[in-house]
Amino acid sequence: MPDYYEKTCTAPVNIAVIKYWGKRDVSLNLPTNSSLSVTLSQDNLQSKTTIRADPSFSKTRLWLNGVEEDVSASKRIQTCIKEARRLRSLYEQQLLRDGNSEVVPLSEYNLHICSENNFPTAAGLASSASGFACFVYTLAQLYSLPNSLSELSIIARQGSGSACRSLFGGFVAWEMGVNNDGSDSMAVQIADEHHWPELIALICVVSDAKKAIGSTVGMQVTVKTSSLLKERIECVVPKRMEEMVKAIKDKDFDAFAELTMRDSNQFHAVCLDSFPPIFYLNDISRAIIRLVEEYNSTSCNYKAAYTFDAGPNAVIYTLRENADELVGLIKRYFMGEEREQIPSGFRADAVPIFEEGSVKQLIRTTVGDGPRVIEDGLLNEDGMPK
Ligand code: DP6
Repeated sequence: MPDYYEKTCTAPVNIAVIKYWGKRDVSLNLPTNSSLSVTLSQDNLQSKTTIRADPSFSKTRLWLNGVEEDVSASKRIQTCIKEARRLRSLYEQQLLRDGNSEVVPLSEYNLHICSENNFPTAAGLASSASGFACFVYTLAQLYSLPNSLSELSIIARQGSGSACRSLFGGFVAWEMGVNNDGSDSMAVQIADEHHWPELIALICVVSDAKKAIGSTVGMQVTVKTSSLLKERIECVVPKRMEEMVKAIKDKDFDAFAELTMRDSNQFHAVCLDSFPPIFYLNDISRAIIRLVEEYNSTSCNYKAAYTFDAGPNAVIYTLRENADELVGLIKRYFMGEEREQIPSGFRADAVPIFEEGSVKQLIRTTVGDGPRVIEDGLLNEDGMPK
């Protein structure tokens, strides 16, 4: 038996097509509406976490992307640890009751946690979803918890709302639930990562000087001040969730694309309806919308769908058959590669050409799987980052 216990896992990023925006309970991260996302391939974007439990550790320590963080300063991390320990201790009691004599009291050991992303945080891509999903999944593996992924998603949700959706691959709904304690506010898988292999996501990392207002603060302003949010929560999202689930199950790109774009637009509309207003899109984001609009006008079916989170970066969903064409357009209009071909029917002057570097990185990826257990850890023999 080793004198320490360790697990290393990876977890994916997810990008919502029906957006979570608004909390009915801030400390539990209970949302005002359900949401739905696509999990992206870990080949391009993932968080990786090693957690070691060792009775000789004098305190719980955490390193994020190489820098030690103060665990006691993060209520969200503490909540996740506390909840996972509670489940572990229930499990230990169960094992003891079942007559297991060698139950290791892992729930009592301090932890060393080391986590990193394979994408630069500077790119402005949200890392809280993959980070917290990875953290909770790794703890659950370390603790051998018998709980389902949906049950674990309840813990990840308390780290960061959108993190609950990164516990599954494929297409994932976060059901808002009705209970005040959050016990039914969890993620469920709608379809797995093999369901719709033709679907491609193009992540356009848009250059931006300003730091956007954070999601948590932004949501609070919206909940307090936007009357449009009420309409969104009560009338729009419930119907849209049903339509989106059907679009995904039917692999109906037309329906998927229109719902995705409309929902991104409405999320940014409730931001604008907040007081003071919140702006996440910039001129480049808006030009990307125009590019997608123009591209869609070249066909009677939708060929692409944009969506934007709490920042100017665009994620464009498309089908494999159109991906090269769309990449060429983005390179031409936003990355200084003006020799790229224009598809027939696309009016060249419908979109202004932006200077090179307006989109500073273009990541082409697919739908991907959920968290994985891997071998290669981030801690050395002494339990310090390698
Ligand atoms: C716009 O999950 O980052 O990306 O729960 O406060 O951690 P917290 O917020 P977070 O919010 C994500 C908001 C969004 C939409 C979405 O992912 O659904």
